Amino acid sequence: MPRKLFVTTALPYANAPFHLGHMMEYIQADIWVRFQRMQGHEVHFVCADDAHGAAIMIAADKAGKTPQQFVAEIAGGRRPYLDGFHIGFDNWHSTDGPENHELAQDIYRALRKEGLIAERAVEQFFDPVKSMFLADRYIKGECPNCGAKDQYGDNCDNCGAVYSPTDLKNPYSALSGAAPVLKSSAHYFFQLSSARCIEFLQQWTATPGRLQPEVLNKIREWFATDGEGHVSLADWDISRDAPYFGIRIPDTADKYFYVWLDAPVGYLASLKNYFGKKGWDFDAFMADPAVEQIHFIGKDIAYFHTLFWPAMLHFSGRKTPDKVYVHGFITLGGDKMSKSRGTGLSPLRYLEVGLNAEWLRYYIAAKLNARVEDIEFNPEDFIARVNSDLVGKYVNIASRAAGFLAKRFGGRLSADLGVEGRALLDGLRGASGNVRELYEEREFGKALREVMLLADRVNEYVDRHKPWDLAKQAGMDAALHDVCSVCIEAFRVLTVFLKPVMPALAAQVEAFLKISPLDWHDATRSLGAHTIGTYQHLMQRVDAKQVDALLEPPAPATITPGGEALAAEIGIDDFAKVDLRIARIVNAEHVEGSDKLLRLTLDVGEGRMRNVLSGIKSAYKPEDLIGKMTVMVANLAPRKMKFGVSEGMVLAASHADEKAHPGLYVLEPWPGAEPGLRVR
Ligand code: 2FM
Ligand code: ZN
Repeated sequence: MPRKLFVTTALPYANAPFHLGHMMEYIQADIWVRFQRMQGHEVHFVCADDAHGAAIMIAADKAGKTPQQFVAEIAGGRRPYLDGFHIGFDNWHSTDGPENHELAQDIYRALRKEGLIAERAVEQFFDPVKSMFLADRYIKGECPNCGAKDQYGDNCDNCGAVYSPTDLKNPYSALSGAAPVLKSSAHYFFQLSSARCIEFLQQWTATPGRLQPEVLNKIREWFATDGEGHVSLADWDISRDAPYFGIRIPDTADKYFYVWLDAPVGYLASLKNYFGKKGWDFDAFMADPAVEQIHFIGKDIAYFHTLFWPAMLHFSGRKTPDKVYVHGFITLGGDKMSKSRGTGLSPLRYLEVGLNAEWLRYYIAAKLNARVEDIEFNPEDFIARVNSDLVGKYVNIASRAAGFLAKRFGGRLSADLGVEGRALLDGLRGASGNVRELYEEREFGKALREVMLLADRVNEYVDRHKPWDLAKQAGMDAALHDVCSVCIEAFRVLTVFLKPVMPALAAQVEAFLKISPLDWHDATRSLGAHTIGTYQHLMQRVDAKQVDALLEPPAPATITPGGEALAAEIGIDDFAKVDLRIARIVNAEHVEGSDKLLRLTLDVGEGRMRNVLSGIKSAYKPEDLIGKMTVMVANLAPRKMKFGVSEGMVLAASHADEKAHPGLYVLEPWPGAEPGLRVR
């Protein structure tokens, strides 16, 4: 019976391009989807941009754009990543699309009708300059525990204390700098604490096969239990006050859904949008009990997907997810990942330096399993795996046999294959069920190890039969024909097993073998006396230079701070040659005949005064400088100038292009510094 699958990946925030973590999730889901399609199942695989929320609204504002423009530009950049890595989504949509507005509001109305929405006043920090409530991460101040300045509203970087934003001393808005005021406003809550919700979630999460064991363990921690064994969850605040980029809450003038309410609804919205384009019946599909709804997500958002989301769906009378497949993070490691190199790894850069997308798909697949484990991208390991597995083991099988078949047998396969060859192929075909199980369970690493063991067997067969020797011996044509035909048959079966991971390579193989697109059942069929096409090299080895190029630090920024490029690097010894001292400005006066200079009398603690001519007249009045402390270069050779000898130099900051960026700022030490102290 063909299955009906509705598959999603997490909707990425529309505020940044994709990173390697996104690509890993898309590759994992895409492999699973392609595998299901090869089984003949019906799969609808969708995603969308997660467009809403305060962070995106603020980022758009900073960029001088409307949030709509801002997210549209991000959305416009998605294609090269998806096409480049062969991610076969059927649809890409946005949570700001009309379908999502409508669905989110419908779900909310249904929850309200169920009596699961409560209204409560919440007191929160409000930015009087920006006229908006501030999420915790936009409030800074002094740590209530250790007094460290500029700490965020939830925890202290300095001492690690955890607190709430209202505990901060001298709080200020990270957006405007203004002191926030406490203000009360009505908020809407989804009552997850209700007995019905708890009961439902306990039963839903514990349904066998729905969640991975590690996820279930986490969920047990999230349910709080009191002394009498009563389980509870806190109600969920689902509203935000205007201004907010989001979906308006029905029957309110200025309240919006918190972004995490409408984000997962975006799964449904994208599917609905897709069905709309196709002219299919979305409601009928979602009402079909045979449909399996499956979400691939990262471990950081399991909370939303295993508690809030199923509860929202269930109590609004909708189908709940059948599976939530949670994966870990991808980290970067290996010798080549030194600090001087890029710490992130841009998927587009990967393609630009000429690395093959399917190498990454293969490498990631080889590391993935069904557990919530982090995996590491290790450059040395990447090169070794691709070169030894894909090129050395798999592609090699075809390249060893194809030439003889073309030259000696017109590309026609032998139908006999010999006893040993038939046994080898039976073994490969017999592995089909096991490999299928492993793909189904998302044990991709195990599946590929199994496939490479099969490839080893084929290569051992080739080494035993040595077609290159057979080709030189008289009367061995039939044997040569059999051996090469076995190789091509074996190669075809292995290609079936690798196709979910490497769809583009599989398409090349299908063209070379002159066969129609492979599905899973083709692994257990036989080609017989079929004529294949001419072999063209299928895959290069990874060149370590390409990987080096990928890992190189980004080219130096073309923007030069302060209008000029940084001076050439110096060592600490060079710096030590410059003797900087704290100086008191004892006197300051105009210089007769100069419109640039002031004459300064400086005390550097030497028991004598220094006379310094300084070009700061445009920025300071002499009387404002007298008595102030500053920093001077005290070992600069005395310079004879038109207006006298200058015995040092006062430090001041300015832009390289003073005309375009006027402003001159003399340095002043923090209180307590005394004349003569060295600055180092
Ligand atoms: O964590 C994130 O990147 C979210 N944008 C994921 C949302 S998934 C779904 F709920 F939309
Ligand atoms: Zn602290």
